[in-house]
Amino acid sequence: MSFIDSHAHLVLEPFQNDRDKVINEAFSSEITHIIQSCDNLDEIKQNLVLTEKYNNLYSSVGIHPHEASLWDDVSKITILEHSKKEKVIAIGETGLDFFYNYSPKEIQLKVFREQIKISKECSLPLIIHCRDAFNEALQILKEEKTEIPGVFHCFTGSLDNAKEALKLGFYISWSGILTFKNAKDLKEVAQEIPLEKTLIETDSPFLTPIPFRGKRNEPKFVKYVAEELAKIKNLNVEEVGQITSENTKKVFNIN
Ligand code: NI
Repeated sequence: MSFIDSHAHLVLEPFQNDRDKVINEAFSSEITHIIQSCDNLDEIKQNLVLTEKYNNLYSSVGIHPHEASLWDDVSKITILEHSKKEKVIAIGETGLDFFYNYSPKEIQLKVFREQIKISKECSLPLIIHCRDAFNEALQILKEEKTEIPGVFHCFTGSLDNAKEALKLGFYISWSGILTFKNAKDLKEVAQEIPLEKTLIETDSPFLTPIPFRGKRNEPKFVKYVAEELAKIKNLNVEEVGQITSENTKKVFNIN
């Protein structure tokens, strides 16, 4: 069996004492690739250190909607510069989060549009974070005529939202939330989404799947998301691992 963790944050503080152990454990178990997500332009430097150290570890570059207020005159240039690097495979994570609103809405909207434009300019897919803002995010993607789609990571929207995203060419990524007992609606959405348009992720250190909910998440736990998805879709877990891995490689153009 093999899996790809399509979204992790391994430079964050919860990994400061055993980061390499966690990554090595993942790669020596069933994890073939890890995609590191980037939340801000300080983090990209740390992400790149990891991508240099591990063959099958890649990174995105961008600014998270929580941190959209950090956007300044040089952000675009900095993102474009990093986008040319070999192990940088996506723009993000970007998007809208109207649940927390850690950055003002207007700024989130502007910074999301900017990063969509960058993705078109450098021909890299988008990693989208979206919470309580699906109508707005989908509308903006339509307006900006996104040519190279990407993935809605840690999907929490409705079936209608998911169908709209698929229409725009996007993939849907499931996190540990899918395993939660109270995620009935999400499980129903997952049932309807073709496996060919599906990715799986951990979002480590967050959103730890059952049976480890409450503990720190790690890339190797992505298999519990795969097991849940297999159960929901009545498939075997090997197939879920194989197809979601192929999808991830296709979206991010990696081998
Ligand atoms: Ni993330």
